[in-house]
Amino acid sequence: MKNLKNALLLKQLYLLKQLGYNYTSVTAFKEDEPDLTLPNTLEKLRKQSRECHLCDLSKSRTQVVFGEGNEDAEIMFVGEAPGMSEDSSGKPFIGKSGDMLTKMIENVLLIPRTETYITNIVKCRPANNAEPSPSEAHSCHPYLLKQIELIKPKIIVALGATAYHYLSGDDSPISKVRGNIQEQHRYKLMPTYHPSYLLRNPSAKKDVLEDLKIVKGLM
Ligand code: URA
Repeated sequence: MKNLKNALLLKQLYLLKQLGYNYTSVTAFKEDEPDLTLPNTLEKLRKQSRECHLCDLSKSRTQVVFGEGNEDAEIMFVGEAPGMSEDSSGKPFIGKSGDMLTKMIENVLLIPRTETYITNIVKCRPANNAEPSPSEAHSCHPYLLKQIELIKPKIIVALGATAYHYLSGDDSPISKVRGNIQEQHRYKLMPTYHPSYLLRNPSAKKDVLEDLKIVKGLM
């Protein structure tokens, strides 16, 4: 798999774009570069991610928040990026939005949170909880793709617009697409609101309830 190599290439192209280049014939990587394929077990992938320096988020992170849960999960939840508590604990979705996510899972899907797998679009915390930049998200994407390939979930719930955008390639507002199951190559994608959004807008909880009931019906 050439995902990591592509991410490195993409990173270099973003850098050149920032410097004002529109086109370059620079050969970024020669074929005799070291093997950049990602490992085929989650444990090895986690280890590799801990040493990742593909983007600037690696400079300010405390810990890489790789993801956690059942490695054979039928359902995977993908959020945006770790926040401060996640950065210091190394675990995804703890703190207030994590409590909200746990309630969503346990009260609607009626399964323990530990039966699902939870991760994010980027595995390192962006400073000031900013939205990850496209370059950061693309650099990290191979890890997410590999997690999906290894876990093989039947359903992925995209939590919020950023997760939905990078999983589907679609820029539509989350309010327009939420609740509509989309067939992806190997799984069904359910876009819904992010738990932090629900903390700020409790009236949207009924929408997430509807979306998760659809997910429950597919399980
Ligand atoms: N928000 C996210 O998107 N992910 C986390 O892990 C925590 C908060």
